[in-house]
Amino acid sequence: MKIWAHRGCSQNYPENTLTSFEKAMNVDKVTGIELDIQLTKDGELVVIHDEKVDRTTDGIGFVRDFTLRELKTLHIRTGKDEPEHIPTMREVLDLLKPKLLNGFKLNIELKNSIYQYPGMEAKIVKLVSEYGVQDSIVYSSFYPRSLLNVHDLEPGAKLGVLNSWLSNCLFAAKGMEKILNLSEGSIALHPGGGGLDISLDMLEGRIVRAWFGGHLYPSKPTGGRMDFDKFTKAGVTDVFINEPEVY
Ligand code: G3P
Ligand code: CA
Repeated sequence: MKIWAHRGCSQNYPENTLTSFEKAMNVDKVTGIELDIQLTKDGELVVIHDEKVDRTTDGIGFVRDFTLRELKTLHIRTGKDEPEHIPTMREVLDLLKPKLLNGFKLNIELKNSIYQYPGMEAKIVKLVSEYGVQDSIVYSSFYPRSLLNVHDLEPGAKLGVLNSWLSNCLFAAKGMEKILNLSEGSIALHPGGGGLDISLDMLEGRIVRAWFGGHLYPSKPTGGRMDFDKFTKAGVTDVFINEPEVY
């Protein structure tokens, strides 16, 4: 089973922060990091999960209504004296680049199923290319149309289609492969861990990366380990989890 740090080490550190990513990149056995991107009002790529800043910062409102300069004044609740700030994608790539050039992976989820953020695909593909880390990136989205855009911009990009249900991931991936003339199995399936609703034989050896909600910071450490065997038997090849450091 391959283990990915979901929003970084987000059980014990604030999600989608440089701290959570730095912790994750230093955990043995972690395959890579998953994070979420959105666009600011002035078109900057920032790393944050919710469309609004309310849950994770001391601000109120939609990410798309803040300029980058305004977003950077917000504080992320860490429980420590030093505040964290919402990172830009450039800051994250500055941090991860050496690892990404050495086999570490990064799953960039385009958070665009509610607001489409026109032009976001072009910006992230260009930035990734500037850093020269294309081979280590997997792009995913709950909005398959966006993944077609990524493919148009970078035909070699690795894609993963997100949905709560594995069956929906499979059907979307098959449709996209047909539209894009890609071989069967080229597009990975990223289902919810609770949505494994089809049998192993239907998966035909595809990559299945399942995500698990779990608890986010400031929950206490759980220290608990998942039973990967049953997920392996269900065809899961990779998991996104919040507390990878316990494995
Ligand atoms: O990419 C897997 C997972 O992160 C998708 O759900 O809501 O945590 O972004 P969410
Ligand atoms: Ca995500």
